[in-house]
Amino acid sequence: MTSSSSVPVLTIDGPSGSGKGTISRKVAEKLGWRLLDSGALYRAVGYAAGMEGLDLSDVDAMTRCAQTTKIRFRATTDGSDTRVVVNGHDATDELRTETAGAAASAIASIPSVRQALVDMQLAFRKAPGLVADGRDMGTVIFPDAPFKVFLTASAAERAKRRYKQLKEKGLSVTLATLQHEIEARDARDASRTVAPLKPAADAVFIDTTGMGIDDVVAKVLAVVQS
Ligand code: DC
Repeated sequence: MTSSSSVPVLTIDGPSGSGKGTISRKVAEKLGWRLLDSGALYRAVGYAAGMEGLDLSDVDAMTRCAQTTKIRFRATTDGSDTRVVVNGHDATDELRTETAGAAASAIASIPSVRQALVDMQLAFRKAPGLVADGRDMGTVIFPDAPFKVFLTASAAERAKRRYKQLKEKGLSVTLATLQHEIEARDARDASRTVAPLKPAADAVFIDTTGMGIDDVVAKVLAVVQS
């Protein structure tokens, strides 16, 4: 799946809670590049399946759902946020929940679901450049990307970050449950046979444990500017 496109891509892969979302958004802003939040696509398909009452382990139903779900990213009028519209419904808030993440992780292990989302992801590669956030951006979707980063952090630190985010949104969670869920999701994402979570051989590995957002952004930008 190589692309001959000359549009530069920076892939940012890593496990959940590694800060990929925040870092990718800030780096894309600084570079003036487009942003692909590929996790939102898997979350959107899981959400659409839930809305239709489909069984997440039904491979045919999930494949059809991935092929037919209409996903649109829409910037808010002040440009400060991106809303995700799934089959005409603004599902942004529902997509951010742990339940949506777990559903996304479950269906993401189905090869035909991943295949159904490939073209949509490739279509994001437009001038002047693309920051692609996910698990397999540097390994499968944009293997020819000139800039690749793999972000990680300890599971304990990732759970703490997630805990803070969810608390700020007024959601009730416990730190121990979150760490447990993060570890379970990592294990599933890393052990699946198709497009498992792993750094591309040519990715720059950045462990963000104990680092502030601005320092991580600077390190990632240095990869592009080097
Ligand atoms: O990045 P995220 O937490 O929004 O992703 C949700 C799930 O979707 C994640 O657990 C695994 C899956 N995913 C994937 O398999 N490949 C991607 N490129 C992005 C996400």
